[in-house]
Amino acid sequence: MKPLILALPANENLAARIALGIQGEVGQAEFRRFPDDESYVRLISEVEGRSVVLAATLDRPDSKFVQLALTSAIVRENGAKRVGLAAPYLPYMRQDRSFKPGEAMSARIFAHYLSGMADWLVTVDPHLHRIERLSEVYNMPTQVVHASSSIARWIAKEVERPLLIGPDEESLQWTKLVADEVKAPFVVSRKHRTDDRHVEISIPDLRQWKDRTPVLVDDVISTGRTMIETINRLQEAGMKRPWCVATHAVFAGQAYHHLRLAGPAGIATTNTITHETNAIDISAPISEQILNLI
Ligand code: R5P
Repeated sequence: MKPLILALPANENLAARIALGIQGEVGQAEFRRFPDDESYVRLISEVEGRSVVLAATLDRPDSKFVQLALTSAIVRENGAKRVGLAAPYLPYMRQDRSFKPGEAMSARIFAHYLSGMADWLVTVDPHLHRIERLSEVYNMPTQVVHASSSIARWIAKEVERPLLIGPDEESLQWTKLVADEVKAPFVVSRKHRTDDRHVEISIPDLRQWKDRTPVLVDDVISTGRTMIETINRLQEAGMKRPWCVATHAVFAGQAYHHLRLAGPAGIATTNTITHETNAIDISAPISEQILNLI
């Protein structure tokens, strides 16, 4: 029997691409909200004895979490052989320790609950920092898709004479990986985050790269402040207008508007989260990793 891919709301494109990539079949379910905003889920497809893949990217996770829990439960109750989760954006990875007494380490707590909802997980470039591997917090097999090659191919094709810029020292490995594939030079900035919405960025001396187009590469654009502050520093240094390239287009609140006002040459993201800046399709490597787990 072919694997069945069930799209949670707004994941229909992802589900269709996965179905194509793994030669599966798109399933049917009904999702709606009751007037009091509670979730309603009805499984329509027959799942008995089948491998089921839930396609659910999990940006803005709080409102999606219950829908996912209900879907996974009903799929299991109806006899699915295995239930996997394709969540290209994996949230709650950034509070990866308790910085103040009493703070919930949400990365671990969220991972605990999500691990109860699926037999395996495929995601794209989760924000791994103090947690080095998903297996430290996830209690199920996981496969990570790396967007670096797809991003590198896009930069090589679209940007002339790029200079890659990573946002901070932690991004060095990743930025180097992309830069090596693009065959372009790279530098990393220094970042100091003062609170949720403010960062201070300092860039190295870039005088030798004035003829290059800076390409800021990051895993996430959330408030956009990392990108915006870097653009400001590049402007002060008299560099060309930069491109902003990221894996996950989270764009919290007015972030996209503010980033555009900062005047980049362009913004390109992968389609882990649907957004008008999606220029880099990452569904093929996601399908490959699903095939490894199914
Ligand atoms: C941080 O460590 C990440 O790599 C990103 O630089 C960060 O999450 C971007 O966040 P924001 O858009 O809020 O500056």
